[in-house]
Formats: sequence, structure tokens, C-alpha cells
Amino acid sequence: MIPENLERGNFGSRFGFILAAAGSAIGLGNIWRFPYFAGEHGGGAFVLVYLVFVVLIGIPVILAELSIGRASQKNPVGAFRALAPGSAWPVVGLLGVTCAFAILAFYSVVAGWTLGYLYESLTGGLSGVTTAEKSEALFSGMIGSPLLPIGLTAAFMLLTVVVVRGGVSGGIERASKILMPVFFVLLVVLAVRSMTLPGGSEGLGFLFGFDWSKITVKVVISALGQALFSLSLGLGAMITYGSYLPRRENLWTSGATVAFFDTSIALLAGVIIFPALFAAGGDPAAGPGLVFVTMPTVFNALPGSTLVGVAFYSLLVIAALTSTISLLEVVVSYFIDERGWGRGAATWTLGSLCFLLAVPSALSQGAFASLSRDGLLGRDFLDVQNIVFGNYALSIGALFICLFVGWRWGIAAAAREIEHGGHLFSMKKAWSVLVRFVCPLAVLTILGFIIYTQDYF
Ligand code: TRP
Repeated sequence: MIPENLERGNFGSRFGFILAAAGSAIGLGNIWRFPYFAGEHGGGAFVLVYLVFVVLIGIPVILAELSIGRASQKNPVGAFRALAPGSAWPVVGLLGVTCAFAILAFYSVVAGWTLGYLYESLTGGLSGVTTAEKSEALFSGMIGSPLLPIGLTAAFMLLTVVVVRGGVSGGIERASKILMPVFFVLLVVLAVRSMTLPGGSEGLGFLFGFDWSKITVKVVISALGQALFSLSLGLGAMITYGSYLPRRENLWTSGATVAFFDTSIALLAGVIIFPALFAAGGDPAAGPGLVFVTMPTVFNALPGSTLVGVAFYSLLVIAALTSTISLLEVVVSYFIDERGWGRGAATWTLGSLCFLLAVPSALSQGAFASLSRDGLLGRDFLDVQNIVFGNYALSIGALFICLFVGWRWGIAAAAREIEHGGHLFSMKKAWSVLVRFVCPLAVLTILGFIIYTQDYF
């Protein structure tokens, strides 16, 4: 039985957990990051490598994290300490907590942009956006101003703090339960509209047309980072969520279900963005603004475009919120469990500090030249954080999580946790080979190639 700990909380039901974990996974990673990475890295080649990594690395790591979390009932640092007492393994958890904090610090900026777009859609600001140029101007006007992005980031961080403050089943579960299915339906409608735009099929060709010659080390590391980022893996978010999961639940089917929905939503986002983009004659490698600039053209091709826009941005805000919640929860649960803080103090303090770290990213989109694209490694500050933490740190985190489960804690102990309550884990053999050999070797090989080519960004 689970020790009932009111400061930590628990998920009330299996359906609630799947939706909360899916809520963590589904977010800007799917709608914003996936299309912009796919566009930047040549389309179909990236998409195929990404899909292979979801199956061969993402699903094994999601199971590894959930089993660590549920077996230990702890935050990422406490979990490693509980399962490997007296070792240096808790350092991996600490890296994860740090990484969650750093990802939240740029994620909340982009989430702030979605709030800005929600405002625009509510006040009719998107209805005049009939051409790509107008859309581009609206976007750069919003994110390039000095104060607005900071205010939007602060507003989003406040929303996150308020929900995390409410605790796991109060805030997180209730919000996810209703809205994620609605989001799914809206995306399907938008995808159908976009695919039937004149010229849209070219976009589908870009997204799914596979070309070997486009596969480079950069494409491969970006696809790996994207698979992990999108599934919320590599820093212990699923360890934390697993720790709130009752022992009777089936980790294997829950994990696989989350991976399936998360990946479907990313592909749906691609199927919305690229046909619309090609129909409007835009550039797939446009970078972080891709989704924001493209979406209004899809709405304007639909009847009731204002309503569709409002629905889309409301749901995107909520999808982003269920993700920022999970990031902040990782950091907060560490301070509650390991440092004895109260939930309220931890949430407010850490949320405020993270907001401060977000300010340079908020200013990096034009307001402050030396943080922008030309100032830094050919990438702006937000993008640098995105790549360092979202690709490299998560890959290294996933590597250590696999090594821990495969070689230290042990496949047998992890499998016992997964099978707890008599659940059938039919993929045990395959999972064991993937966690022990395939995942670690794949990540090491990719990182080795990157170091060899020194082409980090
Ligand atoms: N997966 C989320 C998204 O796709 C982002 C996210 C939430 C995340 N928690 C995480 C990424 C933990 C990595 C690790 O938007």
C-alpha cells in the first residue's frame, strides 16, 4: 500500500493518471516544437527517425521512469537514493530537477505567446491576418516588444503556480480530465481542413516524404531530443508522476497509451501546419515562430474563424499548462520531500525564481539584440536553452536512467514493479534488451558523433 502523504498527494483513478501523464506529455512540444524542428531538419527524414526513437527509446524510458517512481514513491532525487542507497545515483535526479527548472524557464515564454494569441483571437486581432506577411508582422510585433513577452511569461507562470499549489489530484487531474479529449477533436477538424487546402498535398509530401540523404547527425540528435521532450522524459517528470500512481495500475499499458496519444498529436500538428504552410508559400525552416505564423491562415480558411481561433488557443494554453505543471511539480516535489518545505512556500518561491530565469529568453526575440539570433551561436537565447536542455540534457538523463534500471537497480526488480498486481508484461524480453543495450548504445553513439563533428547547434 502507498503511504498516504497529504503533502505529496495521489492520483484518484487510472483514467485520471493517464490523462495527467498525457497532459504532461502533450503540450507545446507537440504543437510548437515538433513542427518547427521537423521544418528545420528536412521534414520526412526527421519524422521517420523521431518515430523510430519514440518506439525504441521513448517507450522503454517511459516504463523505466514510471517503475522507478512507483517503486520508490519519491521525487527523482529521493527515488535514486531509495533504490541505490549510499551511491552517487541521486546526482542523476538532481540533474533532472535542474533541467526541469531550466526547461520551464523557456517553455513558459512560449506558453506566454499562446496567451498573447488567445487575447488576439478574443479581441478579433487575428481576423485581419489574411496574408503570411501580416501574420509575420503580428508575431514579431508581439514577441519582439520588450515588456509584453515578460508580462505574458509572468502571467503563465502565475497560472502554473496556482495549479501546482493546489496539489496533484485537486488541480492537475481535474484540469486534464475534460479538456485533452476536446483538444484532440479540434485538432482532427483543423487537420482535415488544412489537408484539403489547395496546394496542401505538397506539405504532406514534405512531412512524410523520406529522403536518406537528408539524415545527418544533427537531424538524429534533434529527433532523439524531440522524442524525449515530447514524452516528458529524461529528467524525472515520469518518476514524479509514477510516484503518485497507485500500485494496482498497469504501467505498461498506461505508458504505451500515453506514448500513442502524444505521438498522434504531434503528427496531427504536422498535418495541420505543413499543408497550410505550403498552401500559403511559407518557409518550413522559419524557426520558433512557424506555428504561430501559420495557424491564423488555417483559421481564416474556415467558417467561424474567430470561434475556431479562440477554441484553439484556449486549448493550447491548457495543454501547455498541464505540461508546465509537470515541470514545476518535479522541482517542487524535490523541495517538499528532500528539504521539508511546505507545498505553498516551495511553489511560490520556485515559480518566482524560474520566472526570473525566463526573462532573458523572453527578451531574446528581438527586444535585446545581444540575446537574439545574430548575437549568439546563430541561435537566440531561447533556442540555445531549448537545444542544451531539451536535446542534450534530456538525452544524457535518459542514458543514465537506462543504465540505472538496466545495470544497477536491475531489470528483474523493475519488471516486478511493472508486473505488480498480476499485470501481464508481454514485452519484457524486448524491453530488457532495449533498456540495457540498445538505448544506452544509441545515445552514446549519437553524442559521440556530435562531439566528433563539434556541430553542437
Ligand atoms: N512534454 C511536454 C511537451 O511536449 C513538455 C514537458 C513537460 C517536458 N514535462 C517535461 C519535457 C519533462 C521534458 C521533460 O510540451
